Amino acid sequence: MNIDIMSAQRPLIIAIDGHSSCGKSTFARAIARRLGYVYVDTGAMYRAVTLLGLRSGALGADRWDRELLIQMLEQIELEFRLDASTGENLLWMNGACVEKEIRSLEVSGWVSEVSAVPEVRHHMVRLQQWMGRQGGLVMDGRDIGTTVFPAADIKIFMTASVGVRARRRLLELQQKGVPATLDEVRANIEKRDQIDQGRKESPLRRADDAVLLDNSHMTPQQQMVWFVQLMGQKGFPVPGE
Ligand code: DC
Repeated sequence: MNIDIMSAQRPLIIAIDGHSSCGKSTFARAIARRLGYVYVDTGAMYRAVTLLGLRSGALGADRWDRELLIQMLEQIELEFRLDASTGENLLWMNGACVEKEIRSLEVSGWVSEVSAVPEVRHHMVRLQQWMGRQGGLVMDGRDIGTTVFPAADIKIFMTASVGVRARRRLLELQQKGVPATLDEVRANIEKRDQIDQGRKESPLRRADDAVLLDNSHMTPQQQMVWFVQLMGQKGFPVPGE
């Protein structure tokens, strides 16, 4: 029996972690498309909890009602649905698509604090593990290779310089029609890095067995070439384009 071929055919779990706005979701989506896998954006899930917190009044200008936020977790239904016209996986919360709302600067301003709450993390991690129970997916976030799927087949830790990340994020917001300045975006990224890395509950860190990818000076095509090489080194074939 050829073990390599057997393992190559098993649907894999690919975990991508890293800093905010370094292109994780673009890269993860491209990999999922190439392999015919599902893409799960876990940041979107924490953003949805934040949106619900803002809408319910648990979060606000002078408000931080942790108990209400935790209670709300019982009422949140999250589901990724495929948009047939674009091929994108969009996040739906309690029966409505929230893709645009969860990308606002208001949500971005609160999301790291919300995602540092242990009860929120436990709830989301359980949901993510359930989503990935059959494999065949690419999941991106901050704790996928360390906490959600510590036995993932491939673990990648992505980063890029703060300046590069801020410019990329600003462009993305502009394309979505969300108003923002470069200074605002940069400040938000720096604050999120600090909270993500400093929190007690599963902080952002590179898993010991994760492969580092600094894509500051790489195009999406170069990143895909890098990925195909990595898969080859691990003995997993990648279908051609
Ligand atoms: O990937 P993103 O920027 O959309 O993520 C939004 C926030 O959610 C980010 O500041 C950190 C948090 N997050 C997390 O704590 N754990 C994850 N697995 C994914 C995101």
